[in-house]
Amino acid sequence: MKVVFLGPPGVGKGTQATRFSKNHGLPHIATGDLLRVAISKKTEVGLEAKAFIAKGQLVPDHVIIQLMSKRFQLPDAALGYVLDGFPRTITQGKALADILSNDGAQLDRVIYFSLEDDALKERIVGRRSCPSCHSIYHLRYRTPPKDGLCGACGTALMQRDDDKIETVEARLAVYQNETAPLIAYYKALGLLTEIDASGNLDEVAELVEAVFREIDHEVLSD
Ligand code: AP5
Repeated sequence: MKVVFLGPPGVGKGTQATRFSKNHGLPHIATGDLLRVAISKKTEVGLEAKAFIAKGQLVPDHVIIQLMSKRFQLPDAALGYVLDGFPRTITQGKALADILSNDGAQLDRVIYFSLEDDALKERIVGRRSCPSCHSIYHLRYRTPPKDGLCGACGTALMQRDDDKIETVEARLAVYQNETAPLIAYYKALGLLTEIDASGNLDEVAELVEAVFREIDHEVLSD
């Protein structure tokens, strides 16, 4: 199964993709995590991406498409994946379609998570992240351990630089201009399912599972 989780920054894509990939044994491929690792290792991609991320802008398409083309070649991606944060522009969407069609494959579904801006800001500003295993916490909705260390791997939790309120406004504007057009793009292809991401973590996870059951049913009845 090949699924895209699409939606604005902070809507909960990473949180739900982590759960979904564990439940269904699919790799969770998150461009944001790949880029942050590249930045911490000071690779060529990381050095190129760093300034864009700090300003809340998108990393140029050619860098992302090259990064993802390599990632798709790893053996774990052969049978399927959950994509989180990619594609993020129409150019990236078309590049993904080309990569898939070269392999005789196709996307099964694009799940679009929707939520209003005030709630997005609250989720982003309260987020604390693990730089090592990428676990995601929230000061109010998924409280981190009292010692400030990741409950999964023991690394000190941090607030992402781009989660400061100054950068969040820029990220939301970039989302509207550059990523939101993918909603109409995937709707026209008959691949889009919108879910309301305003519920709590378990409620949203159940909506995601309901979409999964629908896809599974369609695959079995083909
Ligand atoms: P990226 O890391 O992908 O950031 P994003 O898309 O902006 O998404 P976020 O990670 O902010 O949010 P999320 O939807 O995953 O929410 P989460 O689950 O963490 O990208 C960062 C940057 O990298 C970009 O700005 C860009 O510069 C660059 N980049 C990445 N991909 C790129 C691409 N393809 N092209 C170009 N540039 C690219 O949840 C948020 C918080 O809310 C957490 O604290 C969580 O605990 C909490 N939460 C989650 N669900 C709920 C819920 N239901 N109720 C209450 N709280 C919740």
